[in-house]
Amino acid sequence: MRANQNGRESGVLPPLAIPETIRGLLEGKVSIITGASHGIGEATAVAFAKAGEKVVLAARSERALEGVARTIENGGGSALVAPTDVTDPASVKRLVDLTLERFGRLDAAFNNAGGGHALAPLAEIPVEDYDRTISVNARGTFLWMKYEIPAMLRTGGGAIVNMSSTAGLQGVNGLAGYVAGKHAVIGLSRAAAMDYAVENIRINVVAPGPILTEHLADPRIRERAALAVPMGRAGGREEVATVVAWLCSDLSSFVTGVVIPVDGGRLSGGRFERPSATSAAAPALAKTAEEAGRGAPKEA
Ligand SMILES: NC(=O)c1ccc[n+]([C@@H]2O[C@H](COP(=O)([O-])OP(=O)(O)OC[C@H]3O[C@@H](n4cnc5c(N)ncnc54)[C@H](OP(=O)(O)O)[C@@H]3O)[C@@H](O)[C@H]2O)c1
Repeated sequence: MRANQNGRESGVLPPLAIPETIRGLLEGKVSIITGASHGIGEATAVAFAKAGEKVVLAARSERALEGVARTIENGGGSALVAPTDVTDPASVKRLVDLTLERFGRLDAAFNNAGGGHALAPLAEIPVEDYDRTISVNARGTFLWMKYEIPAMLRTGGGAIVNMSSTAGLQGVNGLAGYVAGKHAVIGLSRAAAMDYAVENIRINVVAPGPILTEHLADPRIRERAALAVPMGRAGGREEVATVVAWLCSDLSSFVTGVVIPVDGGRLSGGRFERPSATSAAAPALAKTAEEAGRGAPKEA
């Protein structure tokens, strides 16, 4: 086992590898990143700092945030740690106020904090699990935008990226509360993008497929998740972080109200695998593929 960037023992996550080409992309900007204590949020905070931003790190766990801030400062960046509960309006407002007090502006925000509930068919999801999931994903996203937008308007605009999931664009069995929460993130983002388009606030969404965080630490879970991905693997945390950085940068200045899947092709369709020669279903499956006009299935 080894310590990962935020000091937690994981033993499975490779060290972050943020590309050098990101340097300067967000020079001089100030951003808030929520859920920055672990996983995708942590990676994005490190990427933003490398891209030249001053970053404000939000999550509940102060100790883990301090670990991320140390990583950033060791790399020559600047980070402010601000323990926050994204479901609490007073806590969210306090962090936005603190950002303005400390840096005088807010240019970008990645509202990434979120989470799900234990797998269960809808009728078996405890009401409190449903409420907690909606609260952290939907209410949290609403609250961040409610306080971030006025802060951005003070200096002429900004860019917000909200975290959804491929589960925000399709149904997934056993995850009704999470699916509802992530669909809500997209609805809120599209509406807010229309509200503030003329005021130079761009609001977009990323919808990742399976990403290698500690939730996919178990190799069996990781392999099963990768089966549904045309690229045949889970994504890296950096592969989400760099898309978010682009959406927060001036390079995407005419992009608003969009949802970008970061999913190795997952939402674009299935990939037909050649059945093994020994499989009883092989001849029938091959025939079906030909009949469907797809020609010879691609070699796996
Ligand atoms: N990993 C994937 O495969 C994947 C795929 C699609 C979408 N996503 C989405 O990506 C986001 C990050 O996921 P991840 O995999 O990086 O998960 P993670 O490692 O569990 O990170 C979740 C982050 O959210 C924070 N958080 C949770 N509840 C919070 C609350 N009430 N207030 C403040 N912060 C809170 C956590 O920090 P504290 O515990 O310290 O508060 C943590 O930093 C989530 O929205 C998730 O739904 C992940």
